[in-house]
Amino acid sequence: MRIGFLGTGIMGAPMARHLADAGHEVAAWNRTREKAEGLGARVADSPAEAVDGAEVVVTMLTDGGVVEDVIGQAAPRDTTWWQASTVGIAATERLALLAQRQGLAYVDGPVLGTKGPAEQGQLVVLAAGPADAVDRCAPLFDAVGSRTMRLGEAGEATRLKLVLNHWVLAVTGALAETIALAEGLDVDPRLFLDGIEGGALDIGYAKLKGPGMIEGELPVAFPLGLALKDLDLVLEAAERHELHPALAPALRTRYARAAEDGLGDADMGMVVEAVRRASAR
Ligand SMILES: NC(=O)c1ccc[n+]([C@@H]2O[C@H](COP(=O)([O-])OP(=O)(O)OC[C@H]3O[C@@H](n4cnc5c(N)ncnc54)[C@H](OP(=O)(O)O)[C@@H]3O)[C@@H](O)[C@H]2O)c1
Repeated sequence: MRIGFLGTGIMGAPMARHLADAGHEVAAWNRTREKAEGLGARVADSPAEAVDGAEVVVTMLTDGGVVEDVIGQAAPRDTTWWQASTVGIAATERLALLAQRQGLAYVDGPVLGTKGPAEQGQLVVLAAGPADAVDRCAPLFDAVGSRTMRLGEAGEATRLKLVLNHWVLAVTGALAETIALAEGLDVDPRLFLDGIEGGALDIGYAKLKGPGMIEGELPVAFPLGLALKDLDLVLEAAERHELHPALAPALRTRYARAAEDGLGDADMGMVVEAVRRASAR
Protein backbone atom coordinates (compact mmCIF):
# COMPACT_ATOMS: atom_id res chain seq x y z
CA MET A 1 0.00 0.00 0.00
CA ARG A 2 1.06 3.61 -0.47
CA ILE A 3 1.48 5.15 2.96
CA GLY A 4 2.06 8.78 3.94
CA PHE A 5 3.76 8.76 7.35
CA LEU A 6 3.90 12.00 9.35
CA GLY A 7 6.21 12.09 12.37
CA THR A 8 9.24 9.84 12.69
CA GLY A 9 10.26 10.44 16.30
CA ILE A 10 11.02 7.78 18.93
CA MET A 11 7.91 5.77 18.00
CA GLY A 12 7.25 6.87 14.44
CA ALA A 13 10.71 6.03 13.08
CA PRO A 14 10.62 2.30 13.90
CA MET A 15 6.96 2.10 12.87
CA ALA A 16 7.72 3.62 9.45
CA ARG A 17 10.71 1.29 9.09
CA HIS A 18 8.57 -1.79 9.81
CA LEU A 19 5.99 -0.62 7.28
CA ALA A 20 8.68 -0.24 4.62
CA ASP A 21 10.20 -3.61 5.58
CA ALA A 22 6.77 -5.21 5.11
CA GLY A 23 6.85 -4.06 1.48
CA HIS A 24 4.65 -0.98 1.70
CA GLU A 25 5.58 2.12 -0.28
CA VAL A 26 6.18 4.64 2.49
CA ALA A 27 6.69 8.38 2.05
CA ALA A 28 7.79 9.85 5.41
CA TRP A 29 7.89 13.43 6.58
CA ASN A 30 9.41 14.71 9.79
CA ARG A 31 9.99 18.29 10.98
CA THR A 32 13.61 17.34 11.68
CA ARG A 33 14.33 15.75 8.32
CA GLU A 34 17.29 13.55 9.37
CA LYS A 35 15.03 11.42 11.58
CA ALA A 36 13.08 10.34 8.49
CA GLU A 37 16.21 9.20 6.69
CA GLY A 38 17.52 5.62 6.61
CA LEU A 39 14.14 4.04 7.36
CA GLY A 40 13.57 2.55 3.91
CA ALA A 41 10.98 5.23 3.21
CA ARG A 42 11.09 8.01 0.64
CA VAL A 43 11.73 11.23 2.56
CA ALA A 44 9.17 13.91 1.71
CA ASP A 45 9.94 17.63 1.84
CA SER A 46 6.52 18.56 3.20
CA PRO A 47 3.51 16.92 4.86
CA ALA A 48 1.54 17.52 1.65
CA GLU A 49 4.15 15.70 -0.43
CA ALA A 50 4.13 12.73 1.98
CA VAL A 51 0.38 12.21 1.77
CA ASP A 52 0.07 12.81 -1.98
CA GLY A 53 -1.57 9.66 -3.42
CA ALA A 54 -1.46 7.83 -0.07
CA GLU A 55 -3.98 5.05 0.54
CA VAL A 56 -3.41 5.45 4.27
CA VAL A 57 -2.07 8.51 6.09
CA VAL A 58 -0.46 7.85 9.49
CA THR A 59 0.21 10.50 12.13
CA MET A 60 2.60 9.79 15.03
CA LEU A 61 3.18 13.24 16.49
CA THR A 62 3.45 14.78 19.94
CA ASP A 63 -0.10 15.83 20.76
CA GLY A 64 -3.45 16.93 19.37
CA GLY A 65 -2.30 20.47 18.58
CA VAL A 66 0.67 19.26 16.55
CA VAL A 67 -1.48 16.68 14.73
CA GLU A 68 -4.02 19.39 13.82
CA ASP A 69 -1.25 21.65 12.56
CA VAL A 70 0.55 19.00 10.49
CA ILE A 71 -2.59 17.42 9.04
CA GLY A 72 -3.73 20.96 8.16
CA GLN A 73 -0.51 21.42 6.16
CA ALA A 74 -0.83 17.96 4.60
CA ALA A 75 -4.51 18.46 3.67
CA PRO A 76 -5.14 14.87 2.55
CA ARG A 77 -8.51 14.19 0.88
CA ASP A 78 -10.70 11.11 0.45
CA THR A 79 -8.40 8.57 2.01
CA THR A 80 -7.94 6.69 5.29
CA TRP A 81 -6.24 8.31 8.27
CA TRP A 82 -4.69 6.19 11.03
CA GLN A 83 -4.16 8.62 13.90
CA ALA A 84 -1.68 6.79 16.17
CA SER A 85 -0.51 9.63 18.46
CA THR A 86 -1.87 9.88 22.02
CA VAL A 87 -4.10 12.96 21.89
CA GLY A 88 -6.89 12.42 24.44
CA ILE A 89 -10.65 12.67 24.18
CA ALA A 90 -11.26 16.31 23.22
CA ALA A 91 -8.63 16.34 20.46
CA THR A 92 -9.90 13.01 19.12
CA GLU A 93 -13.33 14.58 18.73
CA ARG A 94 -11.85 17.58 16.94
CA LEU A 95 -9.71 15.43 14.66
CA ALA A 96 -12.60 13.10 13.79
CA LEU A 97 -14.65 16.17 12.79
CA LEU A 98 -11.81 17.54 10.73
CA ALA A 99 -11.50 14.13 9.04
CA GLN A 100 -15.19 14.13 8.21
CA ARG A 101 -14.87 17.57 6.58
CA GLN A 102 -11.96 16.36 4.43
CA GLY A 103 -13.59 13.07 3.42
CA LEU A 104 -11.16 11.00 5.47
CA ALA A 105 -12.08 7.72 7.15
CA TYR A 106 -10.79 8.28 10.68
CA VAL A 107 -9.14 5.43 12.55
CA ASP A 108 -8.56 6.24 16.20
CA GLY A 109 -5.50 4.01 16.68
CA PRO A 110 -3.15 4.82 19.55
CA VAL A 111 -0.52 2.23 20.38
CA LEU A 112 0.60 0.57 23.58
CA GLY A 113 4.30 -0.19 24.07
CA THR A 114 7.35 1.98 24.15
CA LYS A 115 10.60 2.39 22.17
CA GLY A 116 11.77 -1.24 22.53
CA PRO A 117 8.48 -2.85 21.43
CA ALA A 118 8.23 -0.30 18.58
CA GLU A 119 11.69 -1.31 17.37
CA GLN A 120 10.79 -5.01 17.63
CA GLY A 121 7.44 -4.57 15.86
CA GLN A 122 5.70 -5.69 19.04
CA LEU A 123 3.29 -2.85 19.73
CA VAL A 124 -0.32 -3.42 20.73
CA VAL A 125 -2.55 -1.39 18.43
CA LEU A 126 -5.87 -0.14 19.83
CA ALA A 127 -8.07 0.37 16.80
CA ALA A 128 -11.47 2.06 16.67
CA GLY A 129 -13.45 3.55 13.82
CA PRO A 130 -15.45 2.44 10.78
CA ALA A 131 -14.93 -1.31 10.24
CA ASP A 132 -13.89 -0.99 6.58
CA ALA A 133 -11.26 1.64 7.44
CA VAL A 134 -9.93 -0.49 10.30
CA ASP A 135 -9.79 -3.45 7.87
CA ARG A 136 -7.77 -1.36 5.39
CA CYS A 137 -5.26 -0.53 8.13
CA ALA A 138 -4.99 -4.13 9.38
CA PRO A 139 -1.85 -4.96 7.29
CA LEU A 140 -0.21 -1.85 8.74
CA PHE A 141 -1.13 -2.84 12.29
CA ASP A 142 0.35 -6.29 11.64
CA ALA A 143 3.60 -4.73 10.43
CA VAL A 144 4.18 -2.67 13.58
CA GLY A 145 2.46 -4.75 16.23
CA SER A 146 2.08 -8.18 17.76
CA ARG A 147 -1.61 -7.68 18.55
CA THR A 148 -4.51 -5.48 17.55
CA MET A 149 -7.42 -4.82 19.86
CA ARG A 150 -10.42 -3.97 17.69
CA LEU A 151 -12.78 -1.66 19.49
CA GLY A 152 -15.94 0.16 18.45
CA GLU A 153 -16.37 3.76 17.34
CA ALA A 154 -13.61 6.35 17.16
CA GLY A 155 -12.95 7.58 20.69
CA GLU A 156 -13.09 4.14 22.30
CA ALA A 157 -9.44 3.40 21.56
CA THR A 158 -8.41 6.76 22.96
CA ARG A 159 -10.35 6.16 26.17
CA LEU A 160 -8.73 2.73 26.62
CA LYS A 161 -5.31 4.27 25.88
CA LEU A 162 -5.84 6.80 28.70
CA VAL A 163 -6.76 3.99 31.09
CA LEU A 164 -3.64 2.01 30.11
CA ASN A 165 -1.37 5.04 30.36
CA HIS A 166 -2.80 5.88 33.76
CA TRP A 167 -1.64 2.43 34.83
CA VAL A 168 1.85 2.94 33.36
CA LEU A 169 2.23 6.39 34.95
CA ALA A 170 0.92 5.15 38.30
CA VAL A 171 3.29 2.17 38.36
CA THR A 172 6.23 4.41 37.45
CA GLY A 173 5.14 6.88 40.13
CA ALA A 174 4.80 4.10 42.72
CA LEU A 175 8.27 2.82 41.85
CA ALA A 176 9.71 6.33 42.20
CA GLU A 177 8.04 6.94 45.57
CA THR A 178 9.08 3.52 46.88
CA ILE A 179 12.70 3.90 45.80
CA ALA A 180 12.88 7.38 47.34
CA LEU A 181 11.22 6.10 50.54
CA ALA A 182 13.82 3.35 50.82
CA GLU A 183 16.64 5.85 50.31
CA GLY A 184 15.12 8.19 52.89
CA LEU A 185 14.92 5.36 55.42
CA ASP A 186 18.55 4.35 54.76
CA VAL A 187 17.37 1.13 53.15
CA ASP A 188 19.22 0.07 50.01
CA PRO A 189 16.46 0.34 47.36
CA ARG A 190 17.89 -2.71 45.61
CA LEU A 191 16.69 -4.69 48.65
CA PHE A 192 13.14 -3.58 47.81
CA LEU A 193 13.55 -5.09 44.32
CA ASP A 194 15.05 -8.24 45.87
CA GLY A 195 12.18 -8.40 48.37
CA ILE A 196 9.43 -8.50 45.73
CA GLU A 197 11.38 -10.89 43.46
CA GLY A 198 9.28 -13.85 42.36
CA GLY A 199 6.28 -12.97 44.54
CA ALA A 200 2.76 -11.95 43.52
CA LEU A 201 3.72 -8.26 43.70
CA ASP A 202 6.78 -8.60 41.52
CA ILE A 203 6.41 -7.04 38.08
CA GLY A 204 8.70 -7.10 35.07
CA TYR A 205 8.45 -3.33 34.86
CA ALA A 206 10.13 -2.89 38.26
CA LYS A 207 13.07 -4.94 37.01
CA LEU A 208 13.15 -3.06 33.72
CA LYS A 209 13.05 0.46 35.14
CA GLY A 210 13.98 0.09 38.83
CA PRO A 211 17.76 -0.34 38.58
CA GLY A 212 18.09 2.63 36.18
CA MET A 213 15.90 4.79 38.42
CA ILE A 214 18.09 3.90 41.40
CA GLU A 215 21.30 4.68 39.46
CA GLY A 216 19.81 7.79 37.81
CA GLU A 217 20.68 6.47 34.36
CA LEU A 218 17.83 5.58 32.04
CA PRO A 219 17.84 5.49 28.24
CA VAL A 220 14.94 7.60 26.96
CA ALA A 221 12.04 5.35 26.00
CA PHE A 222 9.10 7.55 26.98
CA PRO A 223 10.00 11.23 27.49
CA LEU A 224 8.81 12.61 30.82
CA GLY A 225 7.24 15.61 29.07
CA LEU A 226 4.94 13.24 27.17
CA ALA A 227 4.06 11.47 30.44
CA LEU A 228 3.00 14.85 31.85
CA LYS A 229 0.95 15.49 28.69
CA ASP A 230 -0.80 12.13 29.18
CA LEU A 231 -1.57 12.86 32.84
CA ASP A 232 -3.19 16.10 31.71
CA LEU A 233 -5.23 14.09 29.19
CA VAL A 234 -6.30 11.69 31.97
CA LEU A 235 -7.32 14.63 34.16
CA GLU A 236 -9.21 16.23 31.26
CA ALA A 237 -11.04 12.94 30.71
CA ALA A 238 -11.82 12.58 34.43
CA GLU A 239 -13.27 16.09 34.55
CA ARG A 240 -15.39 15.46 31.49
CA HIS A 241 -16.79 12.27 33.05
CA GLU A 242 -17.18 13.93 36.49
CA LEU A 243 -14.70 11.58 38.14
CA HIS A 244 -12.58 12.59 41.11
CA PRO A 245 -9.34 10.60 41.05
CA ALA A 246 -6.89 11.09 43.91
CA LEU A 247 -3.81 9.50 42.38
CA ALA A 248 -3.65 11.31 39.03
CA PRO A 249 -3.42 14.85 40.53
CA ALA A 250 -0.72 13.67 42.97
CA LEU A 251 1.21 12.05 40.13
CA ARG A 252 0.86 15.21 38.07
CA THR A 253 2.52 17.25 40.83
CA ARG A 254 5.56 14.99 40.71
CA TYR A 255 5.86 14.78 36.90
CA ALA A 256 5.30 18.55 36.58
CA ARG A 257 8.02 19.25 39.15
CA ALA A 258 10.45 16.98 37.32
CA ALA A 259 9.65 18.77 34.04
CA GLU A 260 10.18 22.17 35.72
CA ASP A 261 13.53 20.88 36.94
CA GLY A 262 14.59 20.35 33.33
CA LEU A 263 13.84 16.61 33.04
CA GLY A 264 11.15 16.91 30.33
CA ASP A 265 13.33 15.21 27.71
CA ALA A 266 14.61 12.53 30.12
CA ASP A 267 12.87 9.18 30.47
CA MET A 268 9.70 9.31 32.59
CA GLY A 269 11.38 7.07 35.18
CA MET A 270 13.45 10.12 36.13
CA VAL A 271 10.35 11.35 37.97
CA VAL A 272 12.20 9.70 40.87
CA GLU A 273 14.42 12.80 40.92
CA ALA A 274 11.41 15.01 41.71
CA VAL A 275 10.52 12.76 44.64
CA ARG A 276 14.11 12.82 45.91
CA ARG A 277 14.32 16.61 45.59
CA ALA A 278 10.97 17.14 47.35
CA SER A 279 12.30 15.20 50.35
CA ALA A 280 15.59 17.12 50.31
CA ARG A 281 13.84 20.52 50.48
N1 LIG B 1 7.55 7.01 23.54
C1 LIG B 1 6.62 6.16 23.95
O1 LIG B 1 6.89 5.27 24.76
C2 LIG B 1 5.22 6.23 23.42
C3 LIG B 1 4.42 5.08 23.50
C4 LIG B 1 3.13 5.10 22.98
C5 LIG B 1 2.62 6.28 22.46
N2 LIG B 1 3.41 7.41 22.44
C6 LIG B 1 2.82 8.62 21.85
O2 LIG B 1 3.27 8.69 20.50
C7 LIG B 1 3.39 10.06 20.11
C8 LIG B 1 4.82 10.30 19.63
O3 LIG B 1 5.69 10.04 20.72
P1 LIG B 1 7.27 9.82 20.58
O4 LIG B 1 7.70 9.11 21.80
O5 LIG B 1 7.59 9.27 19.24
O6 LIG B 1 7.73 11.34 20.71
P2 LIG B 1 8.88 12.15 19.98
O7 LIG B 1 10.07 11.30 19.71
O8 LIG B 1 9.05 13.39 20.78
O9 LIG B 1 8.22 12.49 18.58
C9 LIG B 1 7.33 13.56 18.41
C10 LIG B 1 7.14 13.81 16.94
O10 LIG B 1 6.32 14.97 16.77
C11 LIG B 1 7.05 15.92 15.98
N3 LIG B 1 6.71 17.29 16.36
C12 LIG B 1 6.69 17.82 17.61
N4 LIG B 1 6.30 19.11 17.56
C13 LIG B 1 6.07 19.39 16.25
C14 LIG B 1 5.63 20.55 15.57
N5 LIG B 1 5.33 21.69 16.24
N6 LIG B 1 5.49 20.49 14.23
C15 LIG B 1 5.77 19.36 13.56
N7 LIG B 1 6.19 18.21 14.15
C16 LIG B 1 6.33 18.23 15.49
C17 LIG B 1 8.49 15.60 16.23
O11 LIG B 1 9.31 16.18 15.24
P3 LIG B 1 10.87 16.46 15.53
O12 LIG B 1 11.55 15.13 15.35
O13 LIG B 1 11.25 17.48 14.53
O14 LIG B 1 10.97 16.96 16.95
C18 LIG B 1 8.45 14.08 16.20
O15 LIG B 1 8.31 13.61 14.88
C19 LIG B 1 2.99 10.90 21.33
O16 LIG B 1 1.63 11.22 21.23
C20 LIG B 1 3.23 9.92 22.49
O17 LIG B 1 2.45 10.25 23.61
C21 LIG B 1 4.70 7.40 22.89
